[in-house]
Amino acid sequence: MPFYVTTPIYYVNAAPHLGHAYTTIAADVMARHHRQREEEVFFLTGTDEHGEPVADAAHALGIEPQELADRNAERFKALAPQLQVSNDFFIRTTDPEHEAKVQEVLSRVRENGFVYEGVYEGSYCPRCADFKAENEIEEGHRCPIHHIELTREREQNYFFRLSDFQERLERLYAEREDFVAPRTRYNEALSFIRSGLRDVPLTRHRLTWGVRVPWDHEHVFYVWFDALLNYYSALSYARPGEDLTERLWPASYHLIAKDILRFHTVYWPALLMAAELELPEHVFVHGYLLMGGEKMSKSLGNVLDPFAVIERFGADALRFYLLREVPFGQDGTVSSASFELRYETELANELGNLASRTIGMLARYRDGAVCAGELDPLLEADFAGLPAAVCALIDRAELTLALDEIWQRVRRLNRYVEERAPWVLARDPERVQELDCVLRSLAEGLRSVTVLLWPFMPTSAERLLEALGAPGHTLADAELTAGRVRSVRAIASMFPKDTQAAGA
Ligand code: MSP
Repeated sequence: MPFYVTTPIYYVNAAPHLGHAYTTIAADVMARHHRQREEEVFFLTGTDEHGEPVADAAHALGIEPQELADRNAERFKALAPQLQVSNDFFIRTTDPEHEAKVQEVLSRVRENGFVYEGVYEGSYCPRCADFKAENEIEEGHRCPIHHIELTREREQNYFFRLSDFQERLERLYAEREDFVAPRTRYNEALSFIRSGLRDVPLTRHRLTWGVRVPWDHEHVFYVWFDALLNYYSALSYARPGEDLTERLWPASYHLIAKDILRFHTVYWPALLMAAELELPEHVFVHGYLLMGGEKMSKSLGNVLDPFAVIERFGADALRFYLLREVPFGQDGTVSSASFELRYETELANELGNLASRTIGMLARYRDGAVCAGELDPLLEADFAGLPAAVCALIDRAELTLALDEIWQRVRRLNRYVEERAPWVLARDPERVQELDCVLRSLAEGLRSVTVLLWPFMPTSAERLLEALGAPGHTLADAELTAGRVRSVRAIASMFPKDTQAAGA
């Protein structure tokens, strides 16, 4: 089975911030992990370029929406390689192929009888591009997310018959309890469905920045329907001359944050049903990165610039920090102070130190050579079943738990060094074999954790595996087996403490 993972497509009304980097990094970890399993993987990210959020931001700058879209799409595109993100395609919703696919699918939805003309009246947040129900509105008629005043809209629109899908969606949730995770988000989506679904606008009349409605040129599609379809449309043109849809649809995982839960867990499956397309396997909803107690967001001004963090500490440290600090699926506060603390205590003192000690002792006592023999059964027992446990967690998108499983072994290896004190063994000619067994077990243990860390920290893992002379990093390579590391080479400090000077 191929593995197809997506991130939300990000609005190009502003530059990327750490919140966007977070989801993209998580998706990359999943994609890399499945590549380790030697599966066919397709990883999609991109930008959402139509609709009011972008049109309004462009007008405020006195430029055309397309110009703003081009400018910011480039910044999102540039972020991916800097984060060591290995996406297979970058979709932009202004791609003509995407637009044609949106028109095709939504025309089918209409032919299938799920579209009608009506008048929309209600409250709307132009930043969310979302129509707000009365019970969500904040005091002062404000958006609960952006805290800006909502507009009152009255518009002649085409509607999508979302209400027709009430029963089918309830059945979907009953039959597939893993459709949405974590459980709290599943419950939230289900209770929204149970509270009674109302039809939603499918098109906008007043807007011109969007995909034209083929049966009525005075309308463009409501940006959310255009945007959601990216997950499907991309497959038809991501590889020139090839249509991947048949092979890769439906998606295995959509990763999103809870701000866009309703669109992905209610509108999206209903739309796919209306278009007679298969539903994705899983939607995983992670929490918010918070700064000073508020969701980090450009419009609130409380953002950490991922480019600056990468420049100083490197992409691997950022990837590690985000997935370790904030339990994936929950909200969590991030700060420069907690970043620096984890960098120093965990990356430098635990992993970095383990690597330099292991390689250093092999160099000192054995000239870098690892002699053949058995591994310490004590360590073997502690590593038994580790790759399978990591797989099972990543299958459920439990990225923080998976990283913790691995990190416990990093700590185990450090304790092992203390327990066995190779420097004491080295002084006793009678204990040569014992010393060899300890060094060999350490080298193989380090190799095993490094292979498992590769999806989280690809550059550091590859460097370290090179130094261990065992560059293979498939999941099969992660087993703790003797005979893989034969000789080691010294490397410079992996996580230097003085990052300003090192420019790491
Ligand atoms: N364009 C829509 C999504 C369409 S998907 C078919 C959109 N764009 S967005 O630019 O606002 O991005 C929202 C997503 O960015 C969140 O769902 C999440 O993946 C990520 N995040 C943005 N800020 C974030 C935090 N502060 N914390 C965690 N994730 C964050 O909505």
